[in-house]
Amino acid sequence: MAAAPELTQADQLAALEAQVATCTKCRLHETRSRTVFGVGSPTADLMFVGEAPGFHEDRQGIPFVGQAGKLLDKLLGGIGLTRDDVYIANVLKSRPPGNRDPQLDEISACEGWLFRQIAIIQPTIVATLGNFATKLLSGKPLGITRVHGVEQPTTVGGSRVLLYPLYHPAAALYTPAMLKVLEQDFARIPELLGGDEPAIEPVVVEAVHEPAVQLSIF
Ligand code: URA
Repeated sequence: MAAAPELTQADQLAALEAQVATCTKCRLHETRSRTVFGVGSPTADLMFVGEAPGFHEDRQGIPFVGQAGKLLDKLLGGIGLTRDDVYIANVLKSRPPGNRDPQLDEISACEGWLFRQIAIIQPTIVATLGNFATKLLSGKPLGITRVHGVEQPTTVGGSRVLLYPLYHPAAALYTPAMLKVLEQDFARIPELLGGDEPAIEPVVVEAVHEPAVQLSIF
């Protein structure tokens, strides 16, 4: 008998996304519009992990589509990449009401989905955006101010990856000094991926008047 064809990484992610869409493991399923699974290349070498969907993400079902997402797109452009070259997901797949901080039991309920995404994609680098993703994936309590820009080999979801903590773009939107550091940390990504290090191109950010997510991400 012929062996069953192996599922591609895209197939595996699609199957996982269908499971996530009906997840009721935590209270957030009661208030979300839809789950926000992740987007990008199923075979990406570089994966970003943010905190949780905000208002716009909850409406559209796509991570990082608000102001923070626009900055993320610009930062990617600065190192010659687009969203299609990377994979973008969050710690939580459902929006916390009012963009409040994720709660510990919500993270525990949801983390298995993220670990499985990482196990399927097998990225070389997992860049964590802000405190929640960094603490979860490093397994350490050290905050982002201490560890941003410091790569650390670690095992996540059974895969060996290089964890690369970064400030959350939503935080950098309001703090020019943090944006500068985020640009500098971003500029090291090509080197970490094994390519050339590009010159840092300043990112132009228009004034923003409303926070995209709570400033819990430092
Ligand atoms: N902030 C996040 O952490 N994730 C999103 O998807 C949007 C904003």
